[in-house]
Amino acid sequence: MGSPHRPLLAHVFRGTFVHSTSSSPMEILHGHLLGVDERGTIVFLEETHQQEQLAKKWGFKPSDIRELSNHEFIMPGMVDTHIHAPQYSFTGTRVDLPLLQWLTKYTFPTEAKFKDSDFAEEVYTRVVRRTLKNGTTTACYFATIHTDASLLLAEIVDKFGQRAFVGKVCMDLNDTVPEYKEMTSDSVQETERFVRELLEKRYARVQPIITPRFGPSCTEDLLCALGDLAQARDLHVQSHISENEEELKIVEELFPDCQNYTELYDKNKLLTSKTVMAHACYLSEEELKLFSLRGAAISHCPNSNFSLSSGVLNVQKVLKHHVKLGLGTDVAGGYSASMLDAIRKTMIAANTLQINKVNETGLTIAEAFQLATLGGSQVLGLDDVIGNFEVGKEFDALLINTKASDSPFDMFSTDKFEVTRTGLMLKKKCDDRNISEVYVAGKQVVPFSSSV
Ligand code: GUN
Ligand code: FE
Repeated sequence: MGSPHRPLLAHVFRGTFVHSTSSSPMEILHGHLLGVDERGTIVFLEETHQQEQLAKKWGFKPSDIRELSNHEFIMPGMVDTHIHAPQYSFTGTRVDLPLLQWLTKYTFPTEAKFKDSDFAEEVYTRVVRRTLKNGTTTACYFATIHTDASLLLAEIVDKFGQRAFVGKVCMDLNDTVPEYKEMTSDSVQETERFVRELLEKRYARVQPIITPRFGPSCTEDLLCALGDLAQARDLHVQSHISENEEELKIVEELFPDCQNYTELYDKNKLLTSKTVMAHACYLSEEELKLFSLRGAAISHCPNSNFSLSSGVLNVQKVLKHHVKLGLGTDVAGGYSASMLDAIRKTMIAANTLQINKVNETGLTIAEAFQLATLGGSQVLGLDDVIGNFEVGKEFDALLINTKASDSPFDMFSTDKFEVTRTGLMLKKKCDDRNISEVYVAGKQVVPFSSSV
């Protein structure tokens, strides 16, 4: 389709679109037409009465239009701002210990197995398939300390067409499982190699990210070298901060010169406008101010925070400080790889703070939806590319079918869309069975093509 004078259109959808904008956490556009060009860019989103004009301008015919039924709608792909790809191998099991004991007993021994690239290939293929199928169009992955296996994760992400940041984990301290750590100089050199080799691949939508594991597993020499590297190559950074009270005590003991945990990263040039820190449950007002000043972001991982009894992030307090905020599954601290689950757990976390009179109100489902989509794109510095359906952005989207044949919930004749939109994310327990198609940059990636 298309006239010879314009870029060809790859898709025209007609129906209901649900997304967040800067002025509305959830805007519902019934009776709209959305066009995507062959590069995957959204070229129009207009009311259907504009169809004739649009058809003339973009050269499409009525038969080119994909008509959604009234039990379907399109929403932006979700952004998982914090997920550990290797830990997918034990997701949903082994969440019976607090963080530090959980790392020692289950996580480090599992991650050590990724030296074996056959095992890595199996797990990484599964995690990319599972997250894509659950509507994660963009993921910010931790891999392991193994450079080649981490490069393999990037290759698999690219093959399936997901958008992602991939980080080779850096850690030069580990008293409890000493075989799972690196020498400081190796960690830096291997990170340099990882970044160089990943960038040489020129994947369209997969980027490297500098990944010190967290304060207790890094010397200051390592943090300093990684901060220099991030600055020199203008790279994104991810880590964990203030997840658990025991962790905080260790950081205080290890780094007595730092006023607080945030200063440890800031001092080493790891707290920048390209940084995302997971958890942040126990940050002080002062630390949040520094996050805001630096433009650094937080990934809220409520499933993990509940599962490992870590803490509860006060989302409203973070937003009051104008700190960028997104949601993460934190597989396998979190037992679910689904961002719809992260939305639900975000609501529950806010409710617990309300019950305990920490906050007067909870969050709305619309606000949680915004965090999972537009919020996540801001956290990863991708908000000029994805996050909603603004013209000029790339079409990362999910087609939701509320009446999928194996749908886990029932729809009633009295259900209005208003009920559906809130219910879908929460009461109705929408899951991957209701995500019938997934698009990244205009390319359909679910159902999976037979070539992957
Ligand atoms: N802190 C350091 N490493 C980890 C990890 O793998 N998961 C979580 N939840 N917290 C961490
Ligand atoms: Fe984590």
